[in-house]
Amino acid sequence: MHNRCPPQRQVDGLNRHHWWRDAVIYQVYVRSFLDSTGDGIGDLAGVRAGLPYLKKLGVDGIWLSPFYPSPQHDHGYDVADYCDVDPLFGDLAEFDLLVGAARRLGVKVLLDIVPNHCSSEHPWFREALAAAPGSEARARFHFADGRGPDGDEPPNNWHAMFGGPAWSRVTEADGRPGQWYLHMFTPEQPDWNWRDPEVVAEFDRVLRFWLDRGVDGFRIDVAAGLFKHPELPDSDDPEADARTRDSVNPLAWNQPEVHDVWRRWRSICEEYTERDGGERLLVGEVSVPTAREHARYVRPDELHQAFFFDLLSAPWDPDAFRKVISEAMQDIAGTGSTVTWVLNNHDQVRTVTRYGEPATEGSGLGAARARAAALLMLALPGAAYIYQGEELGLPEVVDLPDDVLTDPIFHRTGSRARIRDGCRVPLPWSGQASPFGFTPGAESAKPWLPQPEYFAEYATDRALADTRSFWHLYRDGLQLRSTLPQLGEGTLRWLDAPPGVLAFARGDDLVCAVNFGTAPTPAPVSGTPLLASGPCPAGVLPGSTAAWWISS
Ligand code: NOJ
Repeated sequence: MHNRCPPQRQVDGLNRHHWWRDAVIYQVYVRSFLDSTGDGIGDLAGVRAGLPYLKKLGVDGIWLSPFYPSPQHDHGYDVADYCDVDPLFGDLAEFDLLVGAARRLGVKVLLDIVPNHCSSEHPWFREALAAAPGSEARARFHFADGRGPDGDEPPNNWHAMFGGPAWSRVTEADGRPGQWYLHMFTPEQPDWNWRDPEVVAEFDRVLRFWLDRGVDGFRIDVAAGLFKHPELPDSDDPEADARTRDSVNPLAWNQPEVHDVWRRWRSICEEYTERDGGERLLVGEVSVPTAREHARYVRPDELHQAFFFDLLSAPWDPDAFRKVISEAMQDIAGTGSTVTWVLNNHDQVRTVTRYGEPATEGSGLGAARARAAALLMLALPGAAYIYQGEELGLPEVVDLPDDVLTDPIFHRTGSRARIRDGCRVPLPWSGQASPFGFTPGAESAKPWLPQPEYFAEYATDRALADTRSFWHLYRDGLQLRSTLPQLGEGTLRWLDAPPGVLAFARGDDLVCAVNFGTAPTPAPVSGTPLLASGPCPAGVLPGSTAAWWISS
């Protein structure tokens, strides 16, 4: 990976650097990356074809969104078989080719594993439906009798994250309404009961299945989930999860037992490291209330990384950014763990749009800020994740017609929440019209979500040819990260800066500054920057711009 040795870099007893501590991983949302078959849905062969592009960009690895057999009620986060490939995306032979090709290029491969819930089509859930109350098959999930005289009220008052009650009632073998089962997302995603030893053992098997096939690790979905309060009591604020779209119900998430699972999974990874020296990586989707709580998930014997979402949630405001960065450095990096930064993913409005202001639409402000945020993120100590299309500066597609929207949140909130389709529109690769090279063949081929005409300006071939593009900014930033010992792992030192500007030093002499305002300010370092997110004359830091300098 990185061929440098920064002074503060952590090494193990054998003087080996832990590659993941400052890795940059690219999230591939498989169905929207590149389609090799012409059915309008991206696939694993498409990912393999795109590997040279990702290598050129300079990322250390890729995280593949779920490609397992699934009825696709939540785009694969409803897994019917954890050890196979859905024919939509290819097959195991194609998967092996992808891993082999990635390995030859030196690109790590992470899979997305979904342990909180499965699909209602999973054979164990079907077995549970057919089995009697109190059976072993039901014990793998959360089945409970309802309340009220006929048991026709759910066992507790929890609401699901995507809206509606967190419980659905089943029909028993005798045709009568029977027990209820818990699903913290959609009814098609029943939650596993992690207090059942068979569930624990089954996931051990799944991990080993993929590790044996050569993967370098896993992104763990809902990693603060898995366990629920054992009594399943009523919540004081049952709709809080759906309202905040965050896992805030203290009875349903972040239960202490979950840490035992991460210790167990870590020791499985260590076994593989002992065999061949290659460190496998566990990165958790950890959404918990404080950075201090977050740090508990990345203790030395638990997860290697956990996405620190507070940066992603922070508004474009220097005080907000400084606060979350300082907390992460103190509470997470301060305990010896690495901080894992992220600005975009497949669940969030893209930065270009999020940082734009409606009043200034078309002014390019959102794009300028997104570029500045990218340089800021790549300068922070720790690891970083980039979501596909982020390197192209893709905006959110905000005007998708209702009838193409597939996000279960949209359908489960009575068409109120148009949240996650706009960042999942298939990537533009080339050409002037949809499908922009995403899908082979005629222009009549239809990507699974329609691409707007303006995607032509963002196509990868144009981005590569234009040195002022987002793509070049990311590529240059990644190249500098891999050559400058000041960047990557380590600490940061805040520097005095004019109002509206954040400035910090990495190592002795690398300075990163971001001007959150719109008016230019004096630059914190004289001389020309090494890299800037926009035009940046010596001595000046223009508005909505970030830059890196080496100070003398
Ligand atoms: C988090 C994933 O990122 C999201 O896309 C999914 O819908 C939920 N977990 C449920 O699996």
